[in-house]
Amino acid sequence: MVNTMSAPDTQRPAAGPGEVVIRTRGLTKQYGERLAVNNLNLEVYRGDIFGFLGPNGAGKTTTIRMMLHLITPTNGSVEVLGHDIASSSAEILPRVGALVETPALYLYMSGRDNLRAVGSVLGGVPESRLDDVLELVRLKGRDKDRVKTYSLGMKQRLGVAMALLQDPDVLVLDEPANGLDPAGIVEMRDLLRTLAAAGKTIFISSHVLTEVRQICTRVAILDQGKLVTETTIDELIKGHGEFTVQLEPAHARDALTLVRAQPWGRDARIDEHGTLVTAAPAGHGRDLNLFLVQAGFAPETLAPQAQDLEQIFLRLTNSNSGDAQ
Ligand SMILES: Nc1ncnc2c1ncn2[C@@H]1O[C@H](COP(=O)(O)OP(=O)(O)O)[C@@H](O)[C@H]1O
Ligand SMILES: [Mg+2]
Repeated sequence: MVNTMSAPDTQRPAAGPGEVVIRTRGLTKQYGERLAVNNLNLEVYRGDIFGFLGPNGAGKTTTIRMMLHLITPTNGSVEVLGHDIASSSAEILPRVGALVETPALYLYMSGRDNLRAVGSVLGGVPESRLDDVLELVRLKGRDKDRVKTYSLGMKQRLGVAMALLQDPDVLVLDEPANGLDPAGIVEMRDLLRTLAAAGKTIFISSHVLTEVRQICTRVAILDQGKLVTETTIDELIKGHGEFTVQLEPAHARDALTLVRAQPWGRDARIDEHGTLVTAAPAGHGRDLNLFLVQAGFAPETLAPQAQDLEQIFLRLTNSNSGDAQ
């Protein structure tokens, strides 16, 4: 029962999915006039690979810094593993592995010596543990080379290796895929999957949805310091599922006008191929079909549109910033 996150947990029972590993309550950070993080309530459960998504400047790093007790909230609190981080950081932080932005590495030293240096600061990290984490992040074989010869992906994985030295229960990774090439992103994804399978709870931030969508069980989307949504990837797609509808060209505009007058159809549009693209009543294609037929428009074809999660993300964050103005 410790760890069953292999598939996105859309079946999560309403009664609650188990132990809360990270909880923020009303978490707020103000810098002068700017609310970097605005009244954030989050719950991360044991076994989650939790994606914390938002555009640059949304407040992700600030949130993570507060979670790790690196900065003090203006308001609100953070609980990690059941303890308030402000009063129990000495007890809790050793159980949390973290990588905030790019890792601080000694470029002229080998990867192994970098790890050893961190291990000696932490204390009680045996040489065999260095072997274990190097193996885990697939740097065995390159561990004696100077870090300055490493690719960005290798440096990021070395950063994750550092976060793993004390075999933490929880991993908090701030944009670990940032700047990586596609191969590096795949390697990072594989690594996170391996760690999740080993029972770690993982909190990972990103400004690129595609980097995390294949591995995250749940996601929260942050924009301008505020939570836009907290959901599963499946729900995110379902809630914004659109259909492409081919109509006779002479009818497409009239159908569009009608659909846009419906509460579920406000984002409808005609694409560059003259095809109507729209959400459906309650998300069901057959209801959309019925609606159109009853209105006198018989679709030639009606199909769920391949989901572009990047678009969903943009729409969610853009519409939120629109509301704020
Ligand atoms: N130390 C700081 N002083 C003043 N403003 C800051 C500070 N750190 C972050 N900010 C501001 O807070 C907002 C959120 O930043 P950040 O948490 O770094 O966002 P993200 O990690 O999502 O890109 C930004 O507008 C940023 O300029
Ligand atoms: Mg950041």
